[in-house]
Amino acid sequence: MSDKKASNAMWGGRFASGPAAIMEAINASIDFDKKLYAQDIRGSIAHSEMLAETGIIEEQDQEKIAHGLNTILKEIEEGKFEFSTRLEDIHMNVEARLAELIGSAAGRLHTARSRNDQVAVDFRLWVKDEFYRVAAALKGLIEVFLTRAEEHAATVMPGFTHMQTAQPVTFGHHCMAYVEMFSRDLSRVRDAIERMDESPLGAAALAGTGFPIDRFRTAKALGFREPTRNSLDSVSDRDFALEFLSIAAICATHLSRLAEEIVIWSTPQFGFVRLSDSFSTGSSIMPQKKNPDAAELVRAKTGRVNGHLIGLLTVMKGLPLAYSKDMQEDKEAVFDAAETLDLMLAAMTGMVGDMTINDAAMKKAAGSGYSTATDLADWLVRTLGLPFREAHHVTGRAVALAESKKVGLEKLSLEDLQSIHSGITADIFSVLSVQNSVKSRTSFGGTAPAEVRRQIRYWKKRIAKA
Ligand code: ARG
Repeated sequence: MSDKKASNAMWGGRFASGPAAIMEAINASIDFDKKLYAQDIRGSIAHSEMLAETGIIEEQDQEKIAHGLNTILKEIEEGKFEFSTRLEDIHMNVEARLAELIGSAAGRLHTARSRNDQVAVDFRLWVKDEFYRVAAALKGLIEVFLTRAEEHAATVMPGFTHMQTAQPVTFGHHCMAYVEMFSRDLSRVRDAIERMDESPLGAAALAGTGFPIDRFRTAKALGFREPTRNSLDSVSDRDFALEFLSIAAICATHLSRLAEEIVIWSTPQFGFVRLSDSFSTGSSIMPQKKNPDAAELVRAKTGRVNGHLIGLLTVMKGLPLAYSKDMQEDKEAVFDAAETLDLMLAAMTGMVGDMTINDAAMKKAAGSGYSTATDLADWLVRTLGLPFREAHHVTGRAVALAESKKVGLEKLSLEDLQSIHSGITADIFSVLSVQNSVKSRTSFGGTAPAEVRRQIRYWKKRIAKA
């Protein structure tokens, strides 16, 4: 029978093995879900303790089960465990080994449980741990930005819109923009933990169980706030994985924007920052080059993380309740996104912490491109009482004049300026320097160094508690 199928002209020719082997290959998840071994064992120990406490299994059997599971944990951690594809997944690999170790008592562990609630609880435990890892990494990155912002609260640089010089800002202010972004990521992580902090264990296959189990007991033992409330939803919900991926995608997108800025800032044309040797590479042919590879790879890896979000959303979108094997595809997406995001966060934290800021290049660029034109217009409004639209027009003429003379606005003479508007006095020069421009922007959240320092104080306090 299998010979006949293996030689099937339609599809058999490409495969050396028969249908059973192909089925095993598409069905097995052990190659990737072995990552869940610690969570699986933890979940099983909690389940067995509850079964003994409620009198569903004997105390002695529970002791054997727990002892056997701890032996397996050790075997896996010491690399002595033999994973088998024939046993499909981590759950069956562990259970089969348990039977080898302790005999028939092993068969009692799966009472009032199914692999459906088992995988749901294992995976939740893993994702929850990963959320905590990401939260810690985000805090580390935010702290690095706070340090850099403090050093450079008054370092003037050009602010851009449309990638065109717009108005001077400070580098500290720019750093604090990233503090805002990564703090939102951190708060999304905290929210998601809050929402997913429920144990699906005890939902069994999909309908709950007739055994007198105590789901509150297992939820507590596994560090969850409470058990989930609906058995169907418990085994078919992967929102926690989707939320992880969407938070990861947003965070990766933030990291990618930062990476792009670092790539631009580190070009010889900009020269705003110099990456440390530990976070750049040389060219094998052009000796003068110092490439921002780590930043480029952070930018690129965002595609991978974002792709995993779309991948899992697509897996889930057509699934009727409750469990379907499709859901086994959740793990590789999350594992890869997690590993990628962890690395991106670590690389960015290192890069930002290590890079040298070229204050002089930033300041020089800040003054180019008539970046204080808005300050000139504001002066006309404030001092001469001009309507802003008229001030905008007068300023446009001043810029045109400066352009024709190939000088900056601050280099125009008083007579030049008065030829455009007779009311202008020498006082106007006080607002045409980049330093005074940033100093004047004291509105809440503005770029004035004093305001930037206030933002830093606020976030330092908040992050310490986050
Ligand atoms: N390996 C499976 C998964 O990751 C475990 C659950 C299998 N359940 C089942 N009824 N076949 O989804």
